[in-house]
Amino acid sequence: MAVLEIRKLPDPVLRRKAKRVSKIDDSIQRLIDDMIDTMRANNGIGLAAPQVGVPLRVAVIEMPEEEPVALINPVVLKREGEQLLGEACLSFPGYHGEIKRALTVKVKAQDRQGREIRLKGEDLLAQVLEHETDHLNGTLYLDHLESPEALHKVEAAQQT
Ligand code: NI
Repeated sequence: MAVLEIRKLPDPVLRRKAKRVSKIDDSIQRLIDDMIDTMRANNGIGLAAPQVGVPLRVAVIEMPEEEPVALINPVVLKREGEQLLGEACLSFPGYHGEIKRALTVKVKAQDRQGREIRLKGEDLLAQVLEHETDHLNGTLYLDHLESPEALHKVEAAQQT
């Protein structure tokens, strides 16, 4: 297991649409372990594979007080409601922005054993699910800012 380098803007890997994982082999298991280490080393609650330079549809999420979850080929099935909230990203450190996200999000994905899983997230989990699946499509929270005034410089913030 290893802590990997976090890719930051303007690294083009962050803007590419990531590829589906067709086979969950040892290299994917190692990637997931390294992504969890990297997320923890950076105090993150979510991380997407493009953020470590791997253009594959893999994300990890670790909510406070919960076990880490790996999402392979995640798809957002449903979004409901709207919340205005603050967001940050490890790939764009030192900033914090206010954007609108769904209140509840339903996602299906495969877990690291290849089983289909469904997750329903509210509030913070909904935000993280949208943030990480966005990364797999080359989208960053910056793309959701309604105006440049919604972006602020910060000392430290919870980063995903
Ligand atoms: Ni991010």
